[in-house]
Amino acid sequence: MRIDVFTLFPEWFDWLRRPRHLANAAELADLELRCFNYRDHTPLRQGQVDDAPYGGGPGMVIRVDVVAAAFEAVYGVPADRVRDERRVVVLTPRGRPFDDSLAREWAEEPAVTLLAGRYEGFDERVHDHLAGEAVSLGPFVLAGGEVAAMAMVDAVGRRLPGALGNRDSLEGESFSPTLAGRTEHPHYTRPAAFRGWEVPEVLRSGDHAAVEAWRRANLGPGPGEA
Ligand code: ADE
Repeated sequence: MRIDVFTLFPEWFDWLRRPRHLANAAELADLELRCFNYRDHTPLRQGQVDDAPYGGGPGMVIRVDVVAAAFEAVYGVPADRVRDERRVVVLTPRGRPFDDSLAREWAEEPAVTLLAGRYEGFDERVHDHLAGEAVSLGPFVLAGGEVAAMAMVDAVGRRLPGALGNRDSLEGESFSPTLAGRTEHPHYTRPAAFRGWEVPEVLRSGDHAAVEAWRRANLGPGPGEA
């Protein structure tokens, strides 16, 4: 799978190549993470990528001609055709909330492009003509889409074949269909008692059916229910 991120800060993504599950995904599932800087492709002078909003107001808006030039340089097709070939996603607090089912869906795709913006986001024509969807990491405003992109790459990458070892399974984890979208039960490990804080007796009983029943009864809340 290919994930391309367009950003003003491609070097921020270097650390994202290090976590084991993403290194595994890169090796075993052909995850290829590429990062492109709008500035490297801008047709404007002095690396300009943004401009003041029409109608006035604070902040700067990333220009549609800059995004189009970057697309054409990277993909070699007219910018408005890129979304015919791959999922093109604008990262913005205005978008559809990212969740586990979207991560699962993207993990099935051959290629996804994420557009991270700074400032006031993108000229609306990027949404209308170059992207296919808009997605938000959550109902808060980040300084830019980079951290949102990293979270999404992490969530998608760990679903690719071979990303996780046997010890960490996707089956039965939080938000999975097995748990009907709910979060996992609490976990405990040694010591059995610490400063008088005890691990529930049933988990130490060796009675697998009782442990299962306890876990089912102690599932966490679903999304937004906490
Ligand atoms: N850019 C700024 N805030 C964002 C958010 N909540 N989700 C995605 N991209 C963003």
